[in-house]
Amino acid sequence: MDMRAEAVWEAVSPLLPGFTVEVLPELDSTNSELMRRARTGLLDPTLLVAERQTAGRGRLGRDWQSESGASLTFSLGLPLAPSDWSGLSLAVGVSLADSLHPRVQLKWPNDLWLDGRKLGGILIETASFGEVGQARRYAVVGIGLNIAPRSGEGLATPPAALREVLPGAEAGEVLLRVAQPLVQTLQAFETYGFAPFQARFNARDALRERAVQLSDGTAGTAHGASEAGALLVHTAGGMHAVTSSEVSVRPA
Ligand code: BTN
Repeated sequence: MDMRAEAVWEAVSPLLPGFTVEVLPELDSTNSELMRRARTGLLDPTLLVAERQTAGRGRLGRDWQSESGASLTFSLGLPLAPSDWSGLSLAVGVSLADSLHPRVQLKWPNDLWLDGRKLGGILIETASFGEVGQARRYAVVGIGLNIAPRSGEGLATPPAALREVLPGAEAGEVLLRVAQPLVQTLQAFETYGFAPFQARFNARDALRERAVQLSDGTAGTAHGASEAGALLVHTAGGMHAVTSSEVSVRPA
């Protein structure tokens, strides 16, 4: 599979000194691998692609299954120091959606949707490094995208595929399309936080003005993301800003 590693490197390295691209045929999980490396002190900016993951992970301890050749699974690891981390996965979603297609929608906090079906997901993890008291963070931004149609068996949300809107899309071309804007997004987020992404998120919000059910039992109507990236849900008790990443939300 041609992952266009050289072209990706050429597009991204001017923005990120020391950047490397690595493509491996198989890994348990690109997120797990970059987190392991970070814990051993390997903190260079790295884009790691796996042609196949044997233990891909999603949010809330779920697994992420993808078929070799039919998906793009990669993680970007880099030191990141925003003053506020809230809304990072939303900003990443905005960047991906803008790079991919006008019809791609975002489902708070980190799913990409097409017509109510799941096109992809984002899993962000961080590792601390440096002196206690001056600790810095290495962020691992993991992205899984369905490129070709796949079976929906065992999935909570039926799957969508990028080829529905980009016929003939190949994993390497898709990576080349999203990588440089993603790095620019992370750098903009580091400086300005989520606020500049709020309107773009809300324009693509799949839950906007829809009845939603939260996993903590709350029900209401979704009203987009706040300036800090919280999901605003109007319930019988008033407006709630849902921030906990432990809460999942689905259309009621
Ligand atoms: C979700 O939908 O809950 C997030 C899915 C994230 C999947 C990607 S695939 C590349 C990276 N490595 C992983 O193990 N997970 C992320």
